[in-house]
Amino acid sequence: LHVAVLMGGLSSERAVSLSSGKQCADALEGQVARVTRVDAGRDLAQVLAALKPDVVFNALHGDWGEDGCVQGILETLQIPYTHSGLLASAITMDKDKSKAVLRAAGINVPGGGLFDRHAVARGHVIAPPYIVKPNAEGSSVGVYRVLEGEVPVAAVGADDWAYGEQVMVEPFIPGKELAVTVIGEATGPRALTVTDITPVKGFYDYEAKYAAGGSIHKLPAELPPAVFETALRQSELAHTALGCRGISRSDFRYDDVKDDLVLLEVNTQPGMTPTSLAPEQAAFVGMDYKALVRWIVEDASC
Ligand code: DAL
Ligand code: MG
Repeated sequence: LHVAVLMGGLSSERAVSLSSGKQCADALEGQVARVTRVDAGRDLAQVLAALKPDVVFNALHGDWGEDGCVQGILETLQIPYTHSGLLASAITMDKDKSKAVLRAAGINVPGGGLFDRHAVARGHVIAPPYIVKPNAEGSSVGVYRVLEGEVPVAAVGADDWAYGEQVMVEPFIPGKELAVTVIGEATGPRALTVTDITPVKGFYDYEAKYAAGGSIHKLPAELPPAVFETALRQSELAHTALGCRGISRSDFRYDDVKDDLVLLEVNTQPGMTPTSLAPEQAAFVGMDYKALVRWIVEDASC
């Protein structure tokens, strides 16, 4: 089997994807006949048409690689590829659209909504504390937390703001940061476990995600059993409602004072870096990194 691993790409998460892609390609070496590492650029269609791999392992993150664009190229070339298909990728990457789908499935999602970025930069469009985030980015790129007594986020109104004219503003949910990985098995989606994430400082931002020791992961999370169970079942439900394929990761906040579990978002291309959550959860249930990437390749289709 010849597997082309797509990494890097054109998004703000390029560095994260280079890390995910390297880990995945390294783990596939020796497990399949041939691994080709492809730094995905605008010429991707031509590169793949010439390379003719049996399977594409998509290790891209962020726009273009996670939002359906690359998936469309692969559909057109009829090359089986890993992770979610075109439609699920496109909807899930859009926080506003995916919240609508999740809400319709009966899942508790944050309030708030999309606002013009200049209005958000000028004043508080909702009462602090709140979170400001791009509608379609990952890895907490461009995410700000505004606490009570703080000023609005000026950066969102700046000329060099690169993440869209509309930004998502949501009430900040105090409590715990949780994540659940789902494996889309033939018999149906299976949630692995719940991880409780404590950033060493501030909130779970880019640095807390990728700096070694930037956050502490506790798995399985210590939660009231009913909350733990709900997080698992809602992650599976979200995977199905959004039409995800292969692996996905749902991120939650749990307000332990109000006993309120809120699904923040689903990720169709969960990170596979040394500090990432999905491989850690897979290992916890007995699937080491090599077995995980092998399963992801076996699950590829188009
Ligand atoms: N966007 C990052 C890679 C994640 O969801 O893990
Ligand atoms: Mg994300």
